[in-house]
Amino acid sequence: MSAPTARVREMAIDEVPQGKSVAVHGIFQGIAEYYDRMNRVMTLGRHRRWCREVAELAAPPAGGSLLDLATGTGVIALEAAHAYPTVTVTGADFSERMLERAKAKPGADAVHWQLADAADLPFGDESFDAITEGYLLRNVEDLEGVLREQHRVLRRGGRIVILETSPPSGPAKPIVEWGLRTIVPLLGQVFSGDRSSYTYLESSTRAFESPGQVADLLIRLGFRDIGWRKKFFGTNVIMWATKAR
Ligand SMILES: C[S@@+](CC[C@H](N)C(=O)[O-])C[C@H]1O[C@@H](n2cnc3c(N)ncnc32)[C@H](O)[C@@H]1O
Repeated sequence: MSAPTARVREMAIDEVPQGKSVAVHGIFQGIAEYYDRMNRVMTLGRHRRWCREVAELAAPPAGGSLLDLATGTGVIALEAAHAYPTVTVTGADFSERMLERAKAKPGADAVHWQLADAADLPFGDESFDAITEGYLLRNVEDLEGVLREQHRVLRRGGRIVILETSPPSGPAKPIVEWGLRTIVPLLGQVFSGDRSSYTYLESSTRAFESPGQVADLLIRLGFRDIGWRKKFFGTNVIMWATKAR
């Protein structure tokens, strides 16, 4: 299957990401093998359902194109390809090992997989009708720059749908923070033998912006009709926005 844009290129070896991205790239290269299993355990099986919801909310037109950024093991991209058989679905990520897991899954032939850095997307302006992404934003160095790139490659009137963790808030905040600090790294240790990568999940979740702050940024960048739904005691959120016409 061919990619939907003329300006398509794979990342070259000398484009290996810098700074925080180097650490993030290393984490996902390291946990690719047990990523899906850990996600199932940590979300009590809800992750796949959320990915299906993300794909449904993206609603690309028949015959259109959808980019699933930070596709990882491809859960959202595969849900989108299943839901929209006439849509060209591209799954992009900068971790070769995560993409290898995606490519090995049933139905993977229906998706165009591409190695790409979200900070410098190898696609032309306005080349996608919809963009989805799961757990990208808290991992990037330049949040505004990454969202600006998505705004650039999205067609006017197209939708972006974001699945992300959300910093704990409200009355349950102390309990949720305790769970993130103790249970999540413990699960990482038990199910993957890797405590530190899941300690990073806790610290990056606590340090990330609230949905309201992300919404303010989206508005500044030219998105409209923004909304969100919190999931799983407010620890996860699905957000959506439309690029102004
Ligand atoms: C937590 S995983 C999420 C995978 C998938 N979206 C899901 O919901 O299961 C985060 C993914 O973001 C990718 N990622 C992080 N920073 C990136 C960047 N700057 N460019 C491309 N991919 C990136 C990682 O390689 C990893 O596969």
